[in-house]
Amino acid sequence: MASNSPSFLCDHENVDYSKGVKNLVDSVPQLKKVPSEFVLPLDAADAAGSSEIPTIDLAGLNGSAECKVTTVKAIGDACAEWGFFRIKNHGIDEKVGSEMLEVIEEFFGLCLEEKMKYYSEDVLSPIRYGTSLNTPLAHKLHWRDYLRHYGHPFTDTIVQLWPNNPSHYRNVAKAYLEEIWKLAMKIGGAVSESIGLDEGYFERSLGEGVQILSCNYYPPCPEPNKTLGLAAHSDHGGLTILMQNGVEGLQIKHDDTWLSVHHVPSAFVVNVGDYLEILSNGKYKSIEHRASVNQHKTRMSVAVGHGPEMSSTIGPASPLANEARYRSIVYKDYVKLQQRITTRGKSALEILKC
Ligand code: OGA
Ligand code: NI
Repeated sequence: MASNSPSFLCDHENVDYSKGVKNLVDSVPQLKKVPSEFVLPLDAADAAGSSEIPTIDLAGLNGSAECKVTTVKAIGDACAEWGFFRIKNHGIDEKVGSEMLEVIEEFFGLCLEEKMKYYSEDVLSPIRYGTSLNTPLAHKLHWRDYLRHYGHPFTDTIVQLWPNNPSHYRNVAKAYLEEIWKLAMKIGGAVSESIGLDEGYFERSLGEGVQILSCNYYPPCPEPNKTLGLAAHSDHGGLTILMQNGVEGLQIKHDDTWLSVHHVPSAFVVNVGDYLEILSNGKYKSIEHRASVNQHKTRMSVAVGHGPEMSSTIGPASPLANEARYRSIVYKDYVKLQQRITTRGKSALEILKC
């Protein structure tokens, strides 16, 4: 708990930052400045680029053979050139998404004691409430609270760890995560085909597969240009599917320029994570991204990552591994390595390059 975490014991008007940014802004309603512990050494508002990530119409995967080929190619091009794309006609009912956002808002609105039941400093804990980065190590703080837990394979043991307050949380989250898992496997099928592997390759490579839900809560921030909700990082899984509450904030690094990814209602944003960069032997790039915060509005996002079983060894797909560009590693060790780096970026992946 907080007492084991000296980096967090930097009270502002007696507020313990380890208990969350929402707790800070609720406890100090007159807060006019970002406390120095959150000030990050960059101009957070500096997202200069104006290009747009590609949008893929996923209905193409259910169309004629020709239409499918075109869509698979579009997904492959988006993964290679951008590492990020938007999807429309993804088949997920709006209500499933909006109920998920509502129940998350209710969760973060609970009293602190209720949320702190899930507080953990173990980066591999199957459920965690926390704030800032995922790591308990000393670092500059980030303007974010989060709830993270495993989803698929949805065993009773996993689901029983999820919050039961709000009382409908488990049902809503399960409905959402089941749909997102199927969607991720569908996209994974297209991704596999686009690199010349068979359609089932990505899904099979996951084994039982690990789905990790990150619910991000970014309260309004008095000086949004001084800090970030999340600093530049890449995701450790294969494919992340992101839903947002309509408040802008996602930025990606494309051709060395930070670009804002604008919110498009009912579309999801998909991105390539480190596991897919490794599996594709570097053809597809896991892209650095970050989240800025808003002065007036609470931003929420739901990021769901899809990676292999924690105990599996990851490396380039065997048909592509003639000239392997990444060393193999046990996925769990990779996750621990990545979460230990407090400045993130893509430095964990660099360590694996041959
Ligand atoms: C993440 C993430 C971006 C966002 O949770 O890994 O990158 O827009 N979130 O909140
Ligand atoms: Ni991310």
